Amino acid sequence: MRLQYAWFTLLHFLSPSFSLPLQVPPTTSPRSSPLPDLPRLVIYYQTTHDSLGNPISMLPLVTEKNIALTHLIICSLHINPGSTIHLNDHPPSDPHFTTLWAEARVLADAGVRVMGMIGGAAPGSFTAQTLDAPPGSNSTAFEHYYGQLRDVIRTYGLGGLDLDVEQSMSQAGITRLVERLYADFGPGFVVTLAPVASALENGGNLSGFDYGDLEAAAGDEIGFYNAQFYNGFGSMASTAAFDGVVANGWEAEKIVVGQITTPDNGGQYVSFDVLNRTIGELRGRYGEIGGIMGWEYFNSQPGGTAEPWEWAQRMTEILRPEGTFNLTVTRETAEMLEGAWRRSVLGGSVQGVGGQYTGVLPDVDYMAMVNS
Ligand SMILES: *[C@@H]1O[C@H](CO)[C@@H](O)[C@H](O)[C@H]1NC(C)=O
Ligand SMILES: *[C@@H]1O[C@H](CO)[C@@H](O)[C@H](O)[C@H]1NC(C)=O
Ligand SMILES: *[C@@H]1O[C@H](CO)[C@@H](O)[C@H](O)[C@H]1NC(C)=O
Ligand SMILES: *[C@@H]1O[C@H](CO)[C@@H](O)[C@H](O)[C@H]1NC(C)=O
Repeated sequence: MRLQYAWFTLLHFLSPSFSLPLQVPPTTSPRSSPLPDLPRLVIYYQTTHDSLGNPISMLPLVTEKNIALTHLIICSLHINPGSTIHLNDHPPSDPHFTTLWAEARVLADAGVRVMGMIGGAAPGSFTAQTLDAPPGSNSTAFEHYYGQLRDVIRTYGLGGLDLDVEQSMSQAGITRLVERLYADFGPGFVVTLAPVASALENGGNLSGFDYGDLEAAAGDEIGFYNAQFYNGFGSMASTAAFDGVVANGWEAEKIVVGQITTPDNGGQYVSFDVLNRTIGELRGRYGEIGGIMGWEYFNSQPGGTAEPWEWAQRMTEILRPEGTFNLTVTRETAEMLEGAWRRSVLGGSVQGVGGQYTGVLPDVDYMAMVNS
């Protein structure tokens, strides 16, 4: 992840315990048959609004045809010492995110596991003053900031949490965090980590701790790894980097191949043809791999900001050439989403909403998505 986007970030959720700051009717029917777990298609959703301040809809990821999305990761959550947890630039409860949470509910109902991510390029979440407070010496700090994180997961019914540790953290600290999440949320909740690929073959790392030691200590409580095969830490131009990870003892199915979705998001972008070839070779060699992850949604190639979901269609062609996947959207759901959109835009970027805004229409045509 990392990169220049200090702006927005988010979260996610799922399950009947999810709650919104507005009345949400029952939404959609789930997919007719749930997707098999493997191969995973994982997308990070960090840039939440366009340059005009309008929410960027993630619903095309389920309403457009032939996208087998399994996990959506809302990011980035940050711990702020002495303050409250933020999703990018705002508390998760800010009206800015009303659409985000409303759409996330629809995705979850459609069978996508909606997760949150904490960490990324901005430092602070995993320090000795926060989530890496030395175990034993002052657990007050850990309990305080972990409590903020746990409450976000509960409030929004997130189905998992990705730990993107891009600053040095202790071995004991990361193990405690994973074990605590597992203890609080159980086996139905998915904990993942997002190492750079080289960290899985004893090369360069951004996290300080040893991932092999973490897997040995708490691997049963970790769902999979969103390994970053880009930015100089590994590449999909050939199978070499993934082969090196497997040769180092990692199970191929537990490693999701992380890719940037456009050259604008980092280094070592590879074309769809090359990626398809490398993934094909890896699946031929290992039977199956963990899947593909993309950083990040809003500007993905080939559609760009106008049609960012096309990246997911390309990935689905590579991962599941045989499948078709559709979502049912009712009129009730579309109306709920229109209301959430207005609240996001008016409550998030306009102070003192007046009657003159009641006619504002979403720039996402939710009604056009109604198909049931
Ligand atoms: C322990 O952590 C709490 C919360 O961050 C802080 O207020 C307190 O000063 C810390 N105590 C010590 C002894 O460092
Ligand atoms: C991680 O990288 C740092 C240097 O950036 C190094 O000191 C440390 O030994 C590395 N840790 C592991 C487990 O590879
Ligand atoms: C991927 O490569 C296979 C051959 O290995 C080919 O049959 C398939 O059409 C390619 N898919 C895409 C989406 O290019
Ligand atoms: C999805 O929709 C297409 C056409 O609209 C249809 O052919 C296909 O059977 C549907 N797939 C599922 C899984 O319902």
